[in-house]
Amino acid sequence: MNKKEIGIYIHIPFCKQKCYYCDFYSCSNMEEWIPRYVKSLIKEIKQYDSIEEQNTTLVKTIYIGGGTPSLINSDNIVEIMQEIYNKYDVDEKAEITIEVNPGTITLEKLENYKKAGINRISIGLQSTHNHLLQQLGRIHNYYEFVDTYRLAREVGFENINVDLMIGLPNQTILEVEDSLQEIISLEPEHISVYSLIIEEGTVIKKQLEDGKIKLPEEELERKMYWLTKNILEKNGYIHYEISNFAKPNFESKHNLDCWNQKEYIGFGASAHSYINGIRYSNVPSIEEYIKNYEEKTPNKNIQIHEKQSQEEKQKEYMLLGLRKIDGISVQEFKNKFIGNPIYLYHSELEKLVKDNLLEIDGDNIKLTNKGLDFANLVWESFV
Ligand SMILES: C[S@@+](CC[C@H](N)C(=O)[O-])C[C@H]1O[C@@H](n2cnc3c(N)ncnc32)[C@H](O)[C@@H]1O
Ligand code: SF4
Repeated sequence: MNKKEIGIYIHIPFCKQKCYYCDFYSCSNMEEWIPRYVKSLIKEIKQYDSIEEQNTTLVKTIYIGGGTPSLINSDNIVEIMQEIYNKYDVDEKAEITIEVNPGTITLEKLENYKKAGINRISIGLQSTHNHLLQQLGRIHNYYEFVDTYRLAREVGFENINVDLMIGLPNQTILEVEDSLQEIISLEPEHISVYSLIIEEGTVIKKQLEDGKIKLPEEELERKMYWLTKNILEKNGYIHYEISNFAKPNFESKHNLDCWNQKEYIGFGASAHSYINGIRYSNVPSIEEYIKNYEEKTPNKNIQIHEKQSQEEKQKEYMLLGLRKIDGISVQEFKNKFIGNPIYLYHSELEKLVKDNLLEIDGDNIKLTNKGLDFANLVWESFV
């Protein structure tokens, strides 16, 4: 019998300090809650039962994200992983990632991650320039990143991602080039480059409103994006999603599965899940999440967002798939759903093709360069 393939996401919502641009659910100065949080997380994994029979599923990817998973004791990470192995059949080739922040990592932590089966490290750097790191409220400098990176290699990690950001206030195009060249010289297998998004309620948003900082002009941000694409492609990285680049065969399986609308279960406060056409998430509050496990009312943690109809599922598949540089394969759409997307979305596609934002290239519907440009800057309004 074919097993149902799923991904698992684990959310660790603790950070040493909140970065000025970040609106992911994570809290600083809450370290005393970590032991109870881990206990609740383990209970959640143990008790999870919405997949009818655990032995009919195969876990293809695990992603431990945050927040800052490397902030908590690595014995806790080992415990969490052990619980997953106890409960699920994890594919022996599963991609298992942990996000780590420079300034929070030790040799012992990395060794424990390795022992727990983690085989991919994602390091948040953002820039190699210390004045920009400081301006973003990061807790580390570039040298601490290099130490973390070297330590991860020494411990034997052969799949490392580095996160960078462009379009930052006071960032010059030369600095973007410099950051890229520095990182390329370290030869990570994967590089994510995100254009800064100004989120509601962040410190950076307030600084902008108060006129304390200024964003680069849109034209400059565009130049930064295309420079990034050109430099990384010249150096053997494949541009496979709007913000993601990888050496051949090192594309992030976990993220690709999300863009391919595969199913995943999220554990932890604010973690999102997508199972059986239902999108839901856990309550975005460490305190409430724990309280509901301690008071044995775990169902109160769940917030249902969407029970998709077949039509909604198809539409979402199109929107998620367009983030990939290769776009959507018409054949794969036909295999997954009934009907040809070119006819189903005839009027929408016609307009986007006429505006030169999308193209139909053989079997694939994908973004043009103009579409990519637009999607990178304003994905929300694109979709
Ligand atoms: C979920 S965060 C967590 C990673 C890790 N805690 C860290 O900061 O190093 C993953 C990445 O998203 C990116 N990111 C977070 N907020 C962003 C924003 N407002 N605009 C663009 N990129 C952002 C950063 O590059 C960050 O490394
Ligand atoms: S360390 Fe990462 S998750 Fe935490 S606030 Fe900074 S960007 Fe957000």
